[in-house]
Amino acid sequence: MNLRGKTALITGASRGIGRACALKLAESGADIAVNYSSNKVLAEEVVRMIRQMGRQAVAVQADVSRQKEAEAMVETAIDALGGLDILINNAGITRDALLIRMKEEDWVEVLNTNLSSVFFTTKAAVKYMMKKRRGRIINISSVIGMTGNAGQANYSASKAGIVGFSKSIARELAQRNILVNVIAPGFIETDMTNILSEKQKDAILSMIPLGRYGKPEDIANLAAFLASDESGYLTGQVIPVDGGMNM
Ligand SMILES: NC(=O)c1ccc[n+]([C@@H]2O[C@H](COP(=O)([O-])OP(=O)(O)OC[C@H]3O[C@@H](n4cnc5c(N)ncnc54)[C@H](OP(=O)(O)O)[C@@H]3O)[C@@H](O)[C@H]2O)c1
Repeated sequence: MNLRGKTALITGASRGIGRACALKLAESGADIAVNYSSNKVLAEEVVRMIRQMGRQAVAVQADVSRQKEAEAMVETAIDALGGLDILINNAGITRDALLIRMKEEDWVEVLNTNLSSVFFTTKAAVKYMMKKRRGRIINISSVIGMTGNAGQANYSASKAGIVGFSKSIARELAQRNILVNVIAPGFIETDMTNILSEKQKDAILSMIPLGRYGKPEDIANLAAFLASDESGYLTGQVIPVDGGMNM
């Protein structure tokens, strides 16, 4: 995949899937804006690694659940890198609880961080991309957005929302040569899933035909393809990367 000369903003790129996407796109030649919420040290480490590859990189702090911060983040990325070709909306959180025990703040925080953030960031980025008449938007949903999961009504709703949002804007933006696709990861080994008990992890593993958990790089490889010219006839799609868990 050749992304030389392209610039990318990746939300939640200090850790996990976002970090792997940042490193993979940089390895493929892109310059990267690394968004983070609170882990400055980790974000700066990602920036250092990218610069060592000979690419430009900048760390941009922003809580993407807040519209003003998301807009400022997009502006900072464009100013620092001289443009924006690729946006990966990856930042996300869980606040799991059965419905009966789910607090309003668990609902609001997850919906704002996982879904409203995608609206805020995409709207700001698309204003720029429309003028350039090109762009790639890659939104990270989850298989849970399609199947649902007990204890994750808020998370599942946010991830299903990303699918509807992405398909709608894929239709709106196709004429401007802005392609919008969704990656739906299955179980990927990151801080988000490390909090599960061994019993929960074993139960999930038994449902994965490929017999292993996913790695952040499994998602990053697809993100690099979706960011590249090779995927130029692909828009409005939801692609699961889940080891065959939900065929
Ligand atoms: N892991 C999985 O199995 C899995 C499966 C399906 C979908 N996903 C989705 O993939 C995405 C990445 O997940 P992950 O497993 O890599 O998570 P993770 O390891 O917990 O990392 C989350 C990232 O999001 C950032 N973040 C959180 N809240 C933010 C906010 N308000 N503003 C800006 N950044 C924020 C964090 O920044 P800080 O480091 O600064 O806190 C961190 O970089 C999420 O959308 C998640 O729902 C994950």
